Amino acid sequence: MAEDDNTTPKAVTPINFESGEAMMAQGSHVLHSYLADTFKAANGGSLPQMEVRFNNVSITADVTVTTEVTAQSELPTLYHTVMRSLAQFSLKKHVVRKEIIKNVSGVLKPGSITLVLGQPGSGKTSFMRILSGQFPMKKNITVEGEMTYNGTLQKVIEKRLPQFVAYVTQYDRHFHTLTVRETLEFAYAFCGGGMSKHGEDMLSKGTPEANREALATAKAVFAKYPDLIIEQLGLQICQETAIGNAQHRGVSGGERKRVTTGEMQFGQKFITLMDEISTGLDSAATYDIIQTQRSIAKNMHKTIVIALLQPAPEVFALFDNVLILNEGEMMYNGPREDVVPYFETLGFKCPHGRDVADYLLDLGTNQQHKYQADLPPGMSKHPRLASEFAELFRHSHLYDNIVQELEDPYSAEVLESVGDTMERMPEFRQSLWENISSLTYRQLIIIVRNVAFIRVRTFMVVLMGLIYGSTFYQVDPTNAQVMIGVIFQ
Ligand SMILES: Nc1ncnc2c1ncn2[C@@H]1O[C@H](COP(=O)(O)OP(=O)(O)OP(=O)(O)O)[C@@H](O)[C@H]1O
Ligand SMILES: [Mg+2]
Repeated sequence: MAEDDNTTPKAVTPINFESGEAMMAQGSHVLHSYLADTFKAANGGSLPQMEVRFNNVSITADVTVTTEVTAQSELPTLYHTVMRSLAQFSLKKHVVRKEIIKNVSGVLKPGSITLVLGQPGSGKTSFMRILSGQFPMKKNITVEGEMTYNGTLQKVIEKRLPQFVAYVTQYDRHFHTLTVRETLEFAYAFCGGGMSKHGEDMLSKGTPEANREALATAKAVFAKYPDLIIEQLGLQICQETAIGNAQHRGVSGGERKRVTTGEMQFGQKFITLMDEISTGLDSAATYDIIQTQRSIAKNMHKTIVIALLQPAPEVFALFDNVLILNEGEMMYNGPREDVVPYFETLGFKCPHGRDVADYLLDLGTNQQHKYQADLPPGMSKHPRLASEFAELFRHSHLYDNIVQELEDPYSAEVLESVGDTMERMPEFRQSLWENISSLTYRQLIIIVRNVAFIRVRTFMVVLMGLIYGSTFYQVDPTNAQVMIGVIFQ
């Protein structure tokens, strides 16, 4: 069951900031609530935060095809890949408009945690990528609708967006020879590491004691930040293990996923979007991670969005809101407690004992007949297609609430964040030279650890040297013709 946020436990003894383990000794809620109280006191009573509003966002892709697109023709076989590349030269070609996500609207409020649910291919990744400004924009892609961050249009802060929004990718991409700790430390370095001047300035609006305490706390946390993340994600036992990949044995798949999540925790991000982070994790680990994220959302006023494929009931209960996508259509976007009653008004009942998340995923697919109940008055038939569900949702009172929220004025805290934090955020946290030196250092480690490469290269260089040396062994240095040959060989 989700913990009651009003009764978040307070620190019984002062928090020890010596190590990540010591910081987490009384649990993540105690740490986060202490940090939130301390920083609020020094920052004029509120924390920087970000509200995202997206209104009728659609993504369409123009795809060139010669034959009708079917599930079979989409399979990535050699034949289909070759035929697709040849399609652009074919006379019979035609362009099909594929709608990746359609008219998705909503408001993501600071301090809330939202679950994105959907079948594979329903548009979860596309939705999160577009919100994080990381959707690969090619010529064939059209994006419609409006996305604002604390009232500022995405276009205006496009370049600085990665400093505000963390997007945890669905697939793990790491340097396989670096250890877990090194990977996290480099991620931390690229996010500026330590305390920024701007951060220090922000903690100067309280009483002198409050400011001093906040500054000391922030510095203590920053000094051990990678340690704290390792502790929060339960990566202690593998922190010195190389990440590895398909060819090289390293950490397990679940641990790798947690490293990907950890990498995105650095920097003062206000929004975290996590794409299917539970792949390879057991439900206890997923629960722990999401509970920590919930605590971060509630205490630190961050905006958290997480896509999961099959959340367990206790994980599902940790979310405030649910957004259901199906074939790119928004079937539902609203409070978690209202989701079951809402679908009851459409004539579907979640059987006793059935996982709510599984039930919701089945709606809009050919499995939905299992949940069909009597039709409520006023409805002539059960909706079948995702588009029918989306149309009904657009006529519901929950959608009216979204429309209202999209028009509501922003809260004072949000408006304060705009001037205070957003406008002063640089495009990169490190200077050019700091970035070059961190990258060079990382590359050197990677090269030095590539023992096989170094061995083969050494062998080749010695061998070639011997071959050249033997070719010109004991040449006569006074013979001009031979010497020219040596110089220009
Ligand atoms: N750039 C693109 N061009 C054409 N089609 C695309 C593009 N990006 C995504 N799609 C299509 O949009 C649909 C949604 O993809 P998306 O990756 O967002 O789904 P998903 O819900 O994240 O799925 P999964 O659970 O498998 O990760 C898919 O059918 C995909 O093929
Ligand atoms: Mg995806």
